Amino acid sequence: MDIRGILKSNKELLVKSAAFSIPLLKAHAVRRYLKQVSDKASFISVYAEKLLDLPATQIVSQQRKCCISKPKNGPFSLMMNHSTKCNYRCPICNITEANRRFPDHPVNSISISDFEAFKPIFHNSERIGFMGGLGESLLNTDFEEIVKFLRMNFYADLSITTNGSLLNDQKIKALIANKFRSVDISLHAITKETYSKLQSGSLERVLHNIEILIKMRNALNGDRPKILINYALNALNLMETFKMIDFVAENDISFLGLYHFLDYQGGVRGEISLQRNPEHANNIIDELYSHAREKKVVHKLPITKPYFKTKKDLTLLSKMKETTVGHCNHPWEFLVFKGAYTEKDTYYVGVCGAFTPLKMNYRRYIDKYGSVRLADTWNHPIFQYIRKTCNGQNGGFSQNPLCRYCQSPIRRYYKETDNYKNNEQKRKNVKMLFDELHKNVTFLPDIQGIEIFTEANPPEAE
Ligand SMILES: C[S@@+](CC[C@H](N)C(=O)[O-])C[C@H]1O[C@@H](n2cnc3c(N)ncnc32)[C@H](O)[C@@H]1O
Ligand code: SF4
Ligand code: SF4
Repeated sequence: MDIRGILKSNKELLVKSAAFSIPLLKAHAVRRYLKQVSDKASFISVYAEKLLDLPATQIVSQQRKCCISKPKNGPFSLMMNHSTKCNYRCPICNITEANRRFPDHPVNSISISDFEAFKPIFHNSERIGFMGGLGESLLNTDFEEIVKFLRMNFYADLSITTNGSLLNDQKIKALIANKFRSVDISLHAITKETYSKLQSGSLERVLHNIEILIKMRNALNGDRPKILINYALNALNLMETFKMIDFVAENDISFLGLYHFLDYQGGVRGEISLQRNPEHANNIIDELYSHAREKKVVHKLPITKPYFKTKKDLTLLSKMKETTVGHCNHPWEFLVFKGAYTEKDTYYVGVCGAFTPLKMNYRRYIDKYGSVRLADTWNHPIFQYIRKTCNGQNGGFSQNPLCRYCQSPIRRYYKETDNYKNNEQKRKNVKMLFDELHKNVTFLPDIQGIEIFTEANPPEAE
């Protein structure tokens, strides 16, 4: 049983853990939450969940303090996609442009035998997500075997992000039998017209599949998987979010993940970003939360309203940046394997979603080493360097240029409005990071199948 399970089944321990944890929360953070959350009831319900999560978080931050550069026990949360094939061509997604530029690209769908070689990486992961990079993991022909292998060998929360179109009886059975914690369905519209502008395929089919998934899960009296919806707010879908909230209220949906559309190089560009008129969007967001409260589902929306930054906010934040040091925990918690779109049997590897400095041809690697070693991935000297330099002054190291840019508000603004500018800036900062890294890290091991990837983004994301 994991630590959450132990706490849930032991009320006294839970109360003690809460008493221990509360003083650790800074008063201003609580005040900030209270200001932002939509109502007290939802604050209490989400805060109770957060308390359950705290012991795990404490361990991670303790790990961060003790082992500043080299946490030995592996990633807490792991993300990996299992196929770069996709049955959709969503206009919002990088895939549209990637297909135009690389019409003969290979398909990477990892086989169960290659996947088993990653075993050492999964041992300490509490969360394993089928997500990262382009593609639909449900198209991997070994999908059922892969999830069974994970379930039989590790005790981790499993989740998958999918367009939902391929959820048939067999796949749903696999998700239920292997106790997936959640299925995150990318559903950025609830009308046929908007769905076809942002995504592709049939909205009716996806809604039908959600209905079947709920029925099959409930028939077994199960509470897993929870169904979550990913909904990227933009100018095309903003007003129909009211209707999406009604859908959430009328169906057994656990969470409506409202976030911001990002200006990748798909068929729709920054023109649909709400960052162009943030005041208007923020007013509508207030109305959406009121509507959700009336429908009694406000607790199913993000606890912090997904406001857009106004020009005034951005000016203020960019001034603050001069004097404050940002904070990022990702390199101590995450490991990401993003399937390469343009090269066979290859993953880009990073300790955060923003930067993947290793390119791993797992066929060549496994041929030589048999299984994937933590020392070559999670504890690779590049990742140790990132850990030393991502959060400012640390044992003589100053913050590296990429993390400085990443933590600045301007990056998010560019990502939402003009990703070309974001990529241009990122490229410069990644180059500076490698210049500094080569001065400070004298030994970079030669590992068969693993190359150091010095570009800001994989080609499909450029
Ligand atoms: C690249 S997809 C891969 C997983 C799967 N194919 C899917 O669509 O759910 C990862 C997530 O990014 C979302 N996404 C794609 N383009 C986006 C954009 N321009 N802005 C925000 N989210 C986007 C997708 O809808 C999905 O939720
Ligand atoms: S968003 Fe997902 S479903 Fe849509 S094209 Fe991209 S990878 Fe495929
Ligand atoms: S680039 Fe640096 S700051 Fe940004 S997510 Fe990665 S590690 Fe964190």
